[in-house]
Amino acid sequence: KIVNGFDLIKYAKSNCYILPAFNTTNLEMTNAIVQGLARANIPGFIQISSNNLRLSHPKVITYLTNKALEKVDVPIALHLDHGRSFEDVKACVDAGFTSIMIDASHLEYEDNIKLVRKCADYCHFYNIPLEAELGTIKGKEEDIAHGDTDKTNPALVFDFVSRANCDLLAVAVGNVHGLDLEPELDLPLLEKISQVCPVPLVLHGGSGIPKEAILAAKKFNLVKINIASELRRKFISVFGEAYQEDTNAHDLISLSIEAQEEVASLVEEKALGLNEKR
Ligand code: G3H
Ligand code: ZN
Repeated sequence: KIVNGFDLIKYAKSNCYILPAFNTTNLEMTNAIVQGLARANIPGFIQISSNNLRLSHPKVITYLTNKALEKVDVPIALHLDHGRSFEDVKACVDAGFTSIMIDASHLEYEDNIKLVRKCADYCHFYNIPLEAELGTIKGKEEDIAHGDTDKTNPALVFDFVSRANCDLLAVAVGNVHGLDLEPELDLPLLEKISQVCPVPLVLHGGSGIPKEAILAAKKFNLVKINIASELRRKFISVFGEAYQEDTNAHDLISLSIEAQEEVASLVEEKALGLNEKR
């Protein structure tokens, strides 16, 4: 059963977990993430971005996630990642997602607050937590590229969170999306943010961040870390290598199972690594 996001965050806080949040794209990725978390016995999020929903539908994702969860008993919440609009937020809540992000970080400050507040009101009515973002994370997020970093301004954090009424805050502190750029975590900034932020923090761009840096960041009220690109690269590489070996390769079933297994192992390794010194 998909667990409620508030319950998951509370559980993580009281048991000192960092919750890994892995992005899914399809059936195999969904199975792999659930199996990897179950093998590690680490709670976490399975998430899908608004952009990725072009390939699917919130109800399909809820169905696949519930199916995959039938075989395991580790707590997992289903999260909308980088929600693009109130309409997407509503569609996912209505479909049974148990945690939501609205990413209005590209908007002007006051417009960001306004849209987050509207989504928070909707989510809270259904007892679902809402993540928002302040600042801009560099790199390529899905197909959307951001050239400039606009690090989260700690002077705005308290005002933003209290007026927008979000439950988690995604920050830009030198973390980057994708595998093309090197992340450089600004831990002093993260510390400053954590001192004024009334809610737990989220780190996007988890691919490529050494686990030591994440364990150091954990002290600063970090509860969730998003990881997508490393999983996708692993999945794709199985098909790429098979094709390179034999351009007539067409056993999609065996390759899909192999790719699923490879991703599950990576999920297990990541989830355990992030929670090593718990
Ligand atoms: O929201 C998703 C993430 O921030 C993933 O970033 O692809 O760099 O791991 P990543
Ligand atoms: Zn992200």
